[in-house]
Amino acid sequence: MDRILWGGATSASQYEGGFTDGKGMDTQDCRPYLPRTSDATTATRLLTKKLIEEAKDPSSDKFYPFRKGTKGYEYGLQDVDLFKELGLDLYRLSISWSRLYPTGEEEIPNEKGVEYYDKIIKKLHENGIKIFLTINHYAMPLAIVEKYRGWTNRKTIDLYMRFSKFVMAKWGDLIDFWLPFNEINAGYFSPFNGVSLVKNENKDYAYNDVFLSLHNQFVANAKTVKLGREMNLPGKFVAMVSCFCYYPLTPSPEDNLELVKDEQINQWYCMDILSRGEYPYYAKPFFKKHDVTFEISEEDRRLLKNNTVDIVSFSYYSSSICTVQENSSQTAGNLVVTTKNPYLKASEWGWQIDPIGLRNTLNKVYDRYQKPVIVAENGFGAHDKLDNGEIHDQYRIDYFKEHFDQIIKAKEEGVDVRAYMAWGIIDIVSAGSCEMDKRYGVIYVDADNEGHGSYKRYKKDSFEWYKNFINEQRSKN
Ligand code: BG6
Repeated sequence: MDRILWGGATSASQYEGGFTDGKGMDTQDCRPYLPRTSDATTATRLLTKKLIEEAKDPSSDKFYPFRKGTKGYEYGLQDVDLFKELGLDLYRLSISWSRLYPTGEEEIPNEKGVEYYDKIIKKLHENGIKIFLTINHYAMPLAIVEKYRGWTNRKTIDLYMRFSKFVMAKWGDLIDFWLPFNEINAGYFSPFNGVSLVKNENKDYAYNDVFLSLHNQFVANAKTVKLGREMNLPGKFVAMVSCFCYYPLTPSPEDNLELVKDEQINQWYCMDILSRGEYPYYAKPFFKKHDVTFEISEEDRRLLKNNTVDIVSFSYYSSSICTVQENSSQTAGNLVVTTKNPYLKASEWGWQIDPIGLRNTLNKVYDRYQKPVIVAENGFGAHDKLDNGEIHDQYRIDYFKEHFDQIIKAKEEGVDVRAYMAWGIIDIVSAGSCEMDKRYGVIYVDADNEGHGSYKRYKKDSFEWYKNFINEQRSKN
């Protein structure tokens, strides 16, 4: 069995900043800084027409978090030096769609944007760091949302294909893993992030819009896989969902049934389609119940069937609880709210820490899809304190140790785990709460919640720890 590659990950909108050089406005650029409210409040900020209008006003300064990121656009090459020093086997980055295609409709990509990715990708490659490329991590050009209603429109599939085709043609020889969409199931539980749906004030998203948008993403995913294979690209195609490791609150049959239902739609639905190539049996009754009426053509069904992914991957931060009981006490999780688990401690943001849940998830995912598995994201968001140039983040080291131990056990149990990527390997803006305070990196960036600071990089204690760990793992194989 192949050894596990140990890596780190970032996303363009949270890391790069660089709201310049022809970059177009994207959906994440319209998300303002809003301080965290309470633990149980889901941190997902919604995109409304009102916010979009405010974000277009150049004098407004409340939209800086994603526009500054942690200045990867400026410091990217130096950061690759740090990744090299850290000894990363693999680095996951995403391409900002609107940096290459400011409105999504240009025939030729923005030269400055191409130059930026070109130098980063080449430097990673020259330094022997394998590359996991997320083609689209949440953000999409705002113009596509305004003109076509984003993923609800099939036109968006063509625009995405223009973008993905360019990326594959330009960097195809250098990329080891291709991920067409980050956490594709976010389209369901976080429609703004996942499928860029704009919310009508006081009105819920329509299920038909959500599932139609997801269908169009599945088609774009399959077309990308098809094209990449026709181009004979050496890299493998990956699909990714966010996993929540569900437990029933009680042993009652009702709570257990609730778990099965929650798992199906929240966690497996998208992966069943991208990995098995078919809509699952539970989709039809679910659609009927929720008035989802869009039609799926035979041509689309064939495309999905013939272009499934090579590898399945997931993000995992914490486990969740399912229950039919109302009024159970709540806590936050990755883009969702769940019930508190008395057996687990939680981060300051309420995300419950559960390393065994990661091993449990690895086994379930492998068992269900029988394909190699990658942990595309995992990590610990915490307040870090810069103290005379040092950051003593023992809590993050403990989190890593406990989670890595479970990954290695899963591998020993026979799960074909191929890679692990620590999320936010360098500090970046939080996707959920648009703040700097929630840091995941082993590299600290001196920036605060208001976007002030030197943006200088510092190695945290976890940097040395991860470096030694990767070294040890490498020498064992
Ligand atoms: C995942 C996303 O859902 O969780 C990342 O793919 C995100 O973009 C990560 O940053 C952690 O969430 P947060 O809200 O702590 O940044």
